[in-house]
Amino acid sequence: MQPTPKPSGKVAVISGGSSGIGRAFVEKLHARGYIVITCGRDPAKLEKLAQDFPGVKTGICDVSDTAAIRAFADDVVRRHPEIDMLISNAGGMRELDFTRDDITDQDPTEEIRSNLAGAIEWMATFLPAVRRASPSAIVVVTSGYAMAASTRGPVYSAAKFGLRGFAKALRRQLAGHGVTVTEVLPPLVDTPAVAHRSGTKVSATSVAELALTAVANGKSEVHPGAVRWLPFGLRMAPSFIENMVAKS
Ligand SMILES: NC(=O)c1ccc[n+]([C@@H]2O[C@H](COP(=O)([O-])OP(=O)(O)OC[C@H]3O[C@@H](n4cnc5c(N)ncnc54)[C@H](OP(=O)(O)O)[C@@H]3O)[C@@H](O)[C@H]2O)c1
Repeated sequence: MQPTPKPSGKVAVISGGSSGIGRAFVEKLHARGYIVITCGRDPAKLEKLAQDFPGVKTGICDVSDTAAIRAFADDVVRRHPEIDMLISNAGGMRELDFTRDDITDQDPTEEIRSNLAGAIEWMATFLPAVRRASPSAIVVVTSGYAMAASTRGPVYSAAKFGLRGFAKALRRQLAGHGVTVTEVLPPLVDTPAVAHRSGTKVSATSVAELALTAVANGKSEVHPGAVRWLPFGLRMAPSFIENMVAKS
């Protein structure tokens, strides 16, 4: 198959674009004329997305499955050898109680495979194409829980702390290669993933908009909503802030 020539539109590849924050990235980049390609696990959600945003290309890919990432990326990169923006967004949090005797029956490390290892595999797999498009950008969606852990989501917090560390190191490795790395640390966002939770939520659209503005301005981190107080709070009153976040 011949590579698709890069016309006016730049190319953006997003994991988990069929819902929530990923969908908001799809919407914004589609509106800006990007060729948008995204993946998820549920074909029905991807079909709906493709109907809502004609031209957006979708594929099935579970980011916790390295072979699936490789197959998806092979297909994408054959058509689009240069990727201007890569977004690592797919992920989710389960509430796990490690005081339960049956905790080992609950696949306790699942979030490490999807939110951490999967995100790293995703970026590693697409990086050659991202570097070819230099100047280009990587966006990594972590969480406010990457700075202070959530009691209800211990493994999710571990995965996001790890992903934050990876993003920091990757940014340094890619400095000088014309690829920026912008980490987004959202607070509670109004998405289907947290529909069951109460509390102040920011919109997915506002998170995507802030992230894309940060990329345009070369900013390395985005702290939407209440997360903007976290770095200062953790410096000034670390125990108090960690307790507060732990309970949230
Ligand atoms: N919502 C919040 O309050 C919040 C706060 C901080 C950080 N975040 C982070 O923001 C990101 C997006 O969350 P969201 O709230 O927008 O969730 P969401 O509405 O549930 O959307 C998650 C998206 O990722 C896909 N996805 C999930 N697991 C996947 C996997 N293993 N492989 C491929 N695709 C997968 C989902 O599609 P399928 O279900 O079809 O796979 C869906 O498209 C996550 O990394 C999350 O940790 C969210």
